[in-house]
Amino acid sequence: MALSSFKPKPDEINCLYEVTKAMHGTLDLRKALYKVLDLMVEHLGMNRGAISLLNPETSEIHIEVAHGISSTEMTKGRYRLGEGVTGRVIETGRPMAIPRLTDEPLFLDRTGARSRIDKSKIAFICVPIKEGRRVIGALSVDRLFEEESSPKEDLRLLSVISSLIAQKVVILEEINLEKVKLQRENIRLRKELTKKYSFSNIIGNSRKMQEVFHLINQVAKSNANVLLLGESGTGKELVANAIHYNSLRSSKPLVKVNCAALPGNLVEAELFGYEKGAFTGASQQKPGKFEMANNGTVFLDEVGALLLESQGKLLRVLQEMELERVGGTRVIKIDVRIIAATNKDLAEAVESGAFREDLFYRLNVYPIYIPPLREREADLLLLADYFLEKYAEEYGKSVKRISTPAIDALTRYHWPGNVRELENCIERAVLLCDDKVIHSYHLPLTLQTAEDTDTKHARSLVEVVARFEKDLLIDALKSSRGNIRQAANALETTERIFGYKVKKYNITPGQYK
Ligand SMILES: Nc1ncnc2c1ncn2[C@@H]1O[C@H](COP(=O)(O)OP(=O)(O)O)[C@@H](O)[C@H]1O
Ligand SMILES: [Mg+2]
Repeated sequence: MALSSFKPKPDEINCLYEVTKAMHGTLDLRKALYKVLDLMVEHLGMNRGAISLLNPETSEIHIEVAHGISSTEMTKGRYRLGEGVTGRVIETGRPMAIPRLTDEPLFLDRTGARSRIDKSKIAFICVPIKEGRRVIGALSVDRLFEEESSPKEDLRLLSVISSLIAQKVVILEEINLEKVKLQRENIRLRKELTKKYSFSNIIGNSRKMQEVFHLINQVAKSNANVLLLGESGTGKELVANAIHYNSLRSSKPLVKVNCAALPGNLVEAELFGYEKGAFTGASQQKPGKFEMANNGTVFLDEVGALLLESQGKLLRVLQEMELERVGGTRVIKIDVRIIAATNKDLAEAVESGAFREDLFYRLNVYPIYIPPLREREADLLLLADYFLEKYAEEYGKSVKRISTPAIDALTRYHWPGNVRELENCIERAVLLCDDKVIHSYHLPLTLQTAEDTDTKHARSLVEVVARFEKDLLIDALKSSRGNIRQAANALETTERIFGYKVKKYNITPGQYK
């Protein structure tokens, strides 16, 4: 619009003067803009005015400040870009003047503010508000349609006012966006706080596990590769899941590869895929795990088991972030995060030459060590109770607690198989148990012996066999509800021999009725 051709009338000059004054009269932006609309109504005989803003992120347009439109009507005034007169003006950046609303199919009256008014008597004028070339919103007014009024003049005047207020509207827009960002950040932080140190399926109150949770929290949201170290059964895979599902990639795939389970010559095909005919047996082309995990995470379990040759190929892919399928020529770009796990001492493997140093550095960006169960006494019973509940429910049993002697046996054992061994042990106990309490005879023999002797010391064969026999007798008696004949039958022995053994081991059959 060529402003030079604009020759304002005296009342318009007066209005523009007031508008400029209003803009600087208060630091409250909305108040200042409201005053502008008010002045337009007062000086120029306009009825309703509104300043609408475009949210560039959602492409939604909403009424930010309005005069003559109630606040409920305002909240209804939401448009998409290009929708309605306002949406069209913001989309095209060109003003629109509609002499009679009834003539304009684009006019939606979404606010409902004009539902009881004869629309044939209303003119609607809407001009864009711009910052440079960018349209940030629109200024719109209605006025009563009069034969002598000229929409063209109205358009010009409105365009001038629009350029006067543009700067303030830009600031308002920035404040709005900042607020949305802060709100979002706030929600994220709040979520993070509730999640903090509690990954609902990872049990652990011990200081050492709290430290692990802290590390998971620190690294999850980043894109850093993570190396999980720890003995077998300590929960490395569980931690890998927690990291992926708390990361920005959580909606993308987590693809797991057990490197120890792959024959050396198939590693490449499995990880990077192959084309049809690449080798005997490749009757179809197949994408590899890295392709399937694109934009997500690859969990390389037992990474220490990779042969040197495969290590080299893996390293190249991690460096270039692109791969070629076996037998293929096409270069495929990938974006994956690597979480690797090993129960080996990788640093030692590097020293001995069994593991490539350069690959080690790539994987070892953020190491997390998960301590063995024997070093986390505080977690042991928590975990035992957790598994008790889990398997009692799974098998429909009403087992409720663990007897004191059984707890003693659990705590005295050194758990070489870590949490996995504990889980198996409790699952078995729940299966064997037919009342509400897990007793020490429901536990594996290796643990039962721990009641009397230190498991770390050698045990005599006689002792172990005796324990085992006693265990069998009690189990049989429990199943037969103390009936000696049935119990003896179940063990394919005679009542006489069974009675003798029961005496020998000091068992009271009546106890199991
Ligand atoms: N802290 C824990 N809380 C609950 N379950 C656990 C925990 N640690 C391990 N487990 C369970 O123990 C088993 C072994 O864990 P896993 O992650 O496979 O160990 P790893 O990969 O280190 O061998 C899994 O069934 C896992 O769910
Ligand atoms: Mg594992």
